[in-house]
Amino acid sequence: MKEKKIVITYGTFDVLHYGHINLLKRAKDLGDYLIVGLSTDEFNEQKGKKSFYNFNQRKSILESIKYVDKIIPEDCWEQKANDLRQYSVNIFVMGNDWEGKFDFLSQYCEVTYLKRTDGISSTLIRDSLLT
Ligand code: CTP
Repeated sequence: MKEKKIVITYGTFDVLHYGHINLLKRAKDLGDYLIVGLSTDEFNEQKGKKSFYNFNQRKSILESIKYVDKIIPEDCWEQKANDLRQYSVNIFVMGNDWEGKFDFLSQYCEVTYLKRTDGISSTLIRDSLLT
């Protein structure tokens, strides 16, 4: 039997938008099973980010997306190597705003950066909700 190709990506995915969907669809198309490492509220605080939706709300929205097979919490920068081994990940995917930043993970699996969708971001939506 052919083994499943496992893909992983990470992010906050706040106020889910079509840029996120584009990324998730293309990530899933690279393999058979997509894991999303979803940044926790505590980790976002460390990154100086405050999401509109809390972790549980962002998780329940992502769970309803057909491209997403599993969601794990992302608590810190250092966990990625461990996740890649634990879940036998074949491909690590991020948007190209992260180009080059995770090349060191190529010792565990393939590392791919996908082009970001122009003209949309959670920050843009949050800012326009507040003005
Ligand atoms: N992403 C994308 N295209 C966009 C926005 C995000 O491909 N227009 C990708 C990012 O590159 C990342 C993933 O979606 O791989 C999750 O990004 P996230 O930071 O949660 O989304 P942003 O909309 O960029 O959020 P923020 O404005 O808070 O940085």
